[in-house]
Parts: sequence; C-alpha cells; structure tokens
Amino acid sequence: MGRMAGKVALVSGGAEGIGAHVARAIVAEGGQVMLGDVQTEKAAALAAELGENAASVALDVRELAQWEAAVAATVAKFGKLTVLANIAGISEPGTVTDGTLDVWHRTIDINLHGPFYGMRAAIPAMEASGEPCAIVNIGSMIALRPAAFVAAYSASKTGLRGLTQSVALDLAARGVPIRVNMVHPGAIRTPMYERYKFSGADTPENIETGFAATHPMNRIGEPDEVARAVVFLASDEASFTTGCDFTVDGGGSIRS
Ligand SMILES: NC(=O)c1ccc[n+]([C@@H]2O[C@H](COP(=O)([O-])OP(=O)(O)OC[C@H]3O[C@@H](n4cnc5c(N)ncnc54)[C@H](O)[C@@H]3O)[C@@H](O)[C@H]2O)c1
Repeated sequence: MGRMAGKVALVSGGAEGIGAHVARAIVAEGGQVMLGDVQTEKAAALAAELGENAASVALDVRELAQWEAAVAATVAKFGKLTVLANIAGISEPGTVTDGTLDVWHRTIDINLHGPFYGMRAAIPAMEASGEPCAIVNIGSMIALRPAAFVAAYSASKTGLRGLTQSVALDLAARGVPIRVNMVHPGAIRTPMYERYKFSGADTPENIETGFAATHPMNRIGEPDEVARAVVFLASDEASFTTGCDFTVDGGGSIRS
C-alpha cells in the first residue's frame, strides 16, 4: 500500500515546478489530489494525465474566498481533505531601497498571505475529516539563512516559518490531530529556477555554477527530491513530527 493511501491533498502551485512533482508523488503513493493554481489550463492538463485520483481547481492563493472554494471543491470531489501542501510561491529580486513596492506586496501576498489563507480555509475541513491530517508549507533555505538582494522573499519565507511553528503549537496544544511542518529547498531545477538562469543577470553557466557552489553538495536539486520530503511529512510515517524544518538543500543552510 502506498504511503499516501487514503489521503486527500490540496496542493497550491500544482500546475508546474515543485507543486506538480508533489502532485505526481501523492498519486504515485496511492493518494488523491486537487491541484490549485492560477495556471488553470496547465493544472487541468496535469490532472487529466494523472487520472481519476486527480482534479484541478482555479486558485489564486491571494484570495481567501478562492481557498474556501478550493477546499469545498476538494471535499465535494474526494469526500474529505486531509493534506494541505502550500507550494505556490514567487521569487523576485530587490533590496529594501531598490526593490519596487509592487515586488514587496506581491511577494508577501503570495508567499505569506497565501499559506495563511490556505491554512485558515483548510483546518476546519481537516478537523471535520476526523482523521490524522498534515500541512506542509514550502519555505526555502533562505528562511533559515536570509540573503541579500531578495528582501521581500527573505521576509516572506522567514515569516512563513514563524507562522508554521505558531500553527503547529496551537493545533498540538488543542489536541487537534493536524501536524504542520516545513520543507526548505535549496536551488531546485524548476521553471522558477530556469527563468532566473536565463534572465540575463549573468550567463546561464555562471548562474548554475554560482548556485551550485552555495550548496556543499555542489549541485542544483531536483524537484522530485523535494516532493519526496513533502510526501514523507504529509504521510503518517511522520506521525510524531510537527513544527519541523526539513531541509532539502544539499547542506546549503549549514554551510560556513
Ligand atoms: N525552485 C527553487 O529553487 C526554490 C528554492 C526554494 C524554495 N522554493 C519554493 O518552492 C515553491 C515552488 O517553487 P517552484 O520553483 O516550483 O516555482 P515555479 O515558478 O516553477 O512554480 C510555481 C507554481 O506556483 C503557481 N503560482 C504562482 N503564483 C500563484 C498564485 N498567486 N496562486 C496560485 N498559484 C500560483 C505558478 O502558476 C506555478 O505553477 C515556492 O514557494 C518557492 O518559493 C523554490
């Protein structure tokens, strides 16, 4: 039996990148998944490819009402909600002084308000399931080791880390069987990474070498390596784990 057998997951950012790999891994492990994304056609195409254990819903994580509709759609389609994977996120450069206010607000809206709204919408449905549930929030190596030139991203991911731990403590204190954990990827080969690699900020070769060098394992990670960690934390195998920082960063967050 797969590690996600009997689990029903809502995955934000499920159309491509890490979220798409998480969705594939959940179905491969016997679970059911609702893909929520602003890229509705891509999400629908992936759901169709994954078959009867997958479906998709339009979801802009910045809108609480859309989260509530996505949770309702998941319960209507699969009968319950037991896993929330908050994967959707953006990364745009900028310091406090040269970054635009748009970048600041967009980043905080998607990366921090998004997971907050997601948890707010999902927790009542999870409690109603009466089953052990799990929330997995995607942070970043930068949540453990904030970086220059990405002020909004650093703030959003460290903020999400505090939020994750607060929700984990709250639910545990109230005896609610919902675990809340974080996965912190290093640089991972996804469309987000490829966009930066070919952005013209430097040659693609220098960007690849430079990013690899910030990870002691000296390479870029693959999205499946992150998806496996998400599935572990979402599964009952992680039954005594809540509020944790699970790094998938080739040692990047502990480098000297
Ligand atoms: N790729 C990396 O190197 C890396 C490193 C550390 C952390 N992360 C984090 O992992 C997560 C996924 O990153 P990725 O590399 O797969 O990104 P990606 O850009 O490749 O994919 C992100 C997905 O999120 C969706 N999305 C964006 N805004 C949305 C919104 N408002 N509502 C709903 N969906 C939205 C996109 O449509 C896309 O499908 C992000 O939270 C990111 O910060 C990525």
